[in-house]
Amino acid sequence: MKRRLQALSGCLIIIGSICFSNLAAQTNPVIEKKIDALLRRMTLQEKIGQMNQYNGFWEATGPAPKDGDAKTKYDMLKKGLIGSVLNVNGVQNVRKLQEIAVKETRLGIPLIFGMDVIHGQKTILPIPLAEACSWDLKAIEQSARVAATEASAQGINWTFAPMVDVTRDARWGRVMEGAGEDPYLGSKVGVARVKGFQGTDLAANNTIAACAKHFAGYGFVEAGREYNTVDIGTSTLYNIILPPFKALVDNQVQTVMNAFNVINGIPSTGNVMLQKDILKNKWKFKGFVVSDWASGAEMVQHGFAKDLKDAAAIAVNAGSDMDMESSAYIKHLEELVKSGTVPVKNIDEAVRRILRVKFLLGLFDDPYKYCDEKREKEALYNPAHQSKALEVAKKSIVLLKNEGSLLPLSSQQQKIALIGALANDNNSPLGSWRVCSDNNTAIPVVAGIQQYTRNFTYAKGVTVYQGIHDFIHEANINYTDTTGFQEAIALASQSQVVVMVLGESGFQTGEGRSRTELGLPGLQQQLLERVYAVNKNIVLVLMNGRPLALPWAAAHIPAILECWQLGTQTGNAIAAVLFGSYNPSGKLVMSFPRSVGQVPIYYNHLSTGRPDSVELVFWSHYSDEKNSPLYPFGYGLSYTTFAYSNLKVQSSNPTDVRVSVTVTNNGNRAGEEVVQLYIHDKVASVARPVKELKGFEKITLSPGQSQEVQFRLTDETFGFYNNNGQFVVEPGDFDIMVGTNSASVLSTHYYKN
Ligand code: GLC
Repeated sequence: MKRRLQALSGCLIIIGSICFSNLAAQTNPVIEKKIDALLRRMTLQEKIGQMNQYNGFWEATGPAPKDGDAKTKYDMLKKGLIGSVLNVNGVQNVRKLQEIAVKETRLGIPLIFGMDVIHGQKTILPIPLAEACSWDLKAIEQSARVAATEASAQGINWTFAPMVDVTRDARWGRVMEGAGEDPYLGSKVGVARVKGFQGTDLAANNTIAACAKHFAGYGFVEAGREYNTVDIGTSTLYNIILPPFKALVDNQVQTVMNAFNVINGIPSTGNVMLQKDILKNKWKFKGFVVSDWASGAEMVQHGFAKDLKDAAAIAVNAGSDMDMESSAYIKHLEELVKSGTVPVKNIDEAVRRILRVKFLLGLFDDPYKYCDEKREKEALYNPAHQSKALEVAKKSIVLLKNEGSLLPLSSQQQKIALIGALANDNNSPLGSWRVCSDNNTAIPVVAGIQQYTRNFTYAKGVTVYQGIHDFIHEANINYTDTTGFQEAIALASQSQVVVMVLGESGFQTGEGRSRTELGLPGLQQQLLERVYAVNKNIVLVLMNGRPLALPWAAAHIPAILECWQLGTQTGNAIAAVLFGSYNPSGKLVMSFPRSVGQVPIYYNHLSTGRPDSVELVFWSHYSDEKNSPLYPFGYGLSYTTFAYSNLKVQSSNPTDVRVSVTVTNNGNRAGEEVVQLYIHDKVASVARPVKELKGFEKITLSPGQSQEVQFRLTDETFGFYNNNGQFVVEPGDFDIMVGTNSASVLSTHYYKN
C-alpha cells in the first residue's frame, strides 16, 4: 500500500527585498495604550525597578527577613524596585510576593516569576537532548505542555527554556540542554517547545512565557570548557548559531536570554549587533531580553566594562532589558540617566517590553491567576502527565547496535543479570536541571524490569560517583572502589544474558560540568570488560547526558541502547524497549565520536581543500584515528529494517521542486522510521557544508508496507546567509539526498536556476 506523505520543508521567501514572513512584529494596540499610560505615571526609579530581577531572597511563606541582604531586597520589593524574581516556587510563596508587589507598591505592577523549567516541573521529562532524538515534534510540544501545566500550577509564569544553542562539542556539560548539532532540527524542536510552553493563549493560567537562550553562541565555547571564550566565523554565526533563535522569534517567543560569552570579543550582554541590530531591528522581536545570571556584571571580568556602573550603561544601551541578579541597573541606572550617559528612551524601551509581556500574560488583569492551590494539587505528578512522560521517554531511546537480534529480550526463559548502580538509581535519571522536582522520584530500571520478569538478579557492580548528588564534581567519580566487581562477575557468569546500565551521574552533565574525557567515567569500562570476559551476551544500557566515546563497547558488545536521562518514567521506558513492547525509533542529534580527540565532530562540516585520502599524509585526516564518527548524526536502529528506493526530484517550475522516495519496512515487525532529507550546495559564494538537513518525516510502517514520502523544496531550502547576514539563494548544482541517517543516503542531483 502506498500513501503519499508531504513534508513541507520550508516556506517561500521572496528574494530581492528579502521579505520574511515574520509575525513577531505585531503588537496589540490596546495593550500598547495601557503601557503608554503606565509609563507616563512611573518615576525613573520605578521604571528601573521593572528592569531588576532578583533570585528568591527568602521563603516567602516564612517570616519576613529582618536583616542583611534579604531585608534590603524585601524593602526594595515594597518600594517597587524589583520587577521579577526567579527561583520562587509554589502557590503560597508566589502569592505572598505578588501581594506585596500589587498591594504595597505605589503602582501595584505585578511581578513576573521566572524559573528554569528546562524539562519538567515535578514530573520530569527526558533531558532535551534525549527528547530531540525522538524527532517527534508533536511529542516534544506535548512534553513542554506538561511542564508548563505543572509549572503554572505552582505560580511560575515564565520559563528560561528552550535552550537552542547549537553545539558540536560533547565535552561541554550543557549539550544535555539543547537539540544537538543541527540548526534546522534545532529550530523545529525549539519552536515545538515554545508552542508547548506558550500554548495558543498566553493569557491563560496554564501557559507560560518561553525564553530563547543563550543569545548567542554559548554552545561553541572553546574546548568545550564551561563559560570559555567563543571565537567563531561569520558564516557559522549566521548559518548555524542564529537560525534557531530567529525561528523562535518568528514564532512569538516572548523573551530571549543573552549569554555569558563574547563574540568577536564583545560580551553578548553588551553586544549591540546581536541584541539591537539583529534581534530587535532586523527580526522585529517585541519581547524582552533578560541577562543571564549576573552576566552584566561579568563584563567587568571580561575586561569590557570598567566597573558595575559602566557595565550597567553598556548593557542597557546594547538592548539587555532586564538585569538578572547583578544589581547593576538598580544601583546605577538612575545616576546614568541623570548624567546623560543612558538616554531615558532606552529605559522606556526596555520597560515597555517588560510590561508588554506582563500584559500579554494577563498579570495585570489578575496577578493571582497562577495562584490556585487546588490546581496546584491536581496538576503535580498528574497521571496523564506520567503517561505522556513515558511516551516521550520511549521515543527518545536510540538503538545503537543489536547484533544477532539479542534484543528484544524474552520475559520468560532467560536468566538475566542486571548490573550497574545506575540500574537502581532513582535520582540520576532526573538529570541536573530538575530544579523544582523532588529528588529520588525517577522510576529506576530495576522497577521497570519487574513489570516484565522477576527472573533477574541485580548487582551494583560499580558506582559512578561517590559523595552527594547535588553539585557533584569529577573528583567524586569512583576510581577506586572495586568491591562490587566479584559479585557482578560471578552473577554474569551464571546468567544467560547481562543487562549493564552504565553512564554518568545526573550531575556530570549540565551547567558547570564540562569533561576532558568522553569515556565511561570511573571504573565502569573496567567492569564492562571483566564481565564480557565471562559472558558476551551483554546489553549495554547507556544512561548519560552527552555523547560518549565508546569504541571498545561498539566493537565488542552485541546490543547497545542509548537511553540518556529520561526523567520520572525512566525505568518503565527502558524496560518497554528491552522487552520489545516498544520498538525503538530514536535517532541521534549529535555525532558520537570514536575519540575525544575528534571533538568537535559534526556531520554538517565543510569539505576542506583536501578531503580525500591521497598518497602519503597530505590530506585532512588524523594519523591515529578515522575522521568519521562512531555513530553519525541521524543514526538509530529499529527492531525491524527499512529499505529506501526510487529517489526522484521533480520540478514543474523553479518554485515547485519535489523530492520523493519510497520507504519499505522489509523486516518482521511494525516500526517507526525518521526519513531524512539532506542537500549539498556544491558551489556557492561561501563554502557550504557537505550535507545540510533540510527536512524529515517520522513515519510508521507495518511489515512489508511501503510508503512514498515527499519533500517540497523552496528557496528557504536552497538558500543560506552570506557573510553580510543577507539570506541569498544562488543558482547551481545541488546534491539531493534522502536516507536513514546522515551517513547512509540515496543521492541524486538537482540544478537550481
Ligand atoms: C544560569 C544559566 C541560565 C539559567 C539562569 C537562571 O547560570 O546559564 O541558563 O536560566 O542562570 O538560573
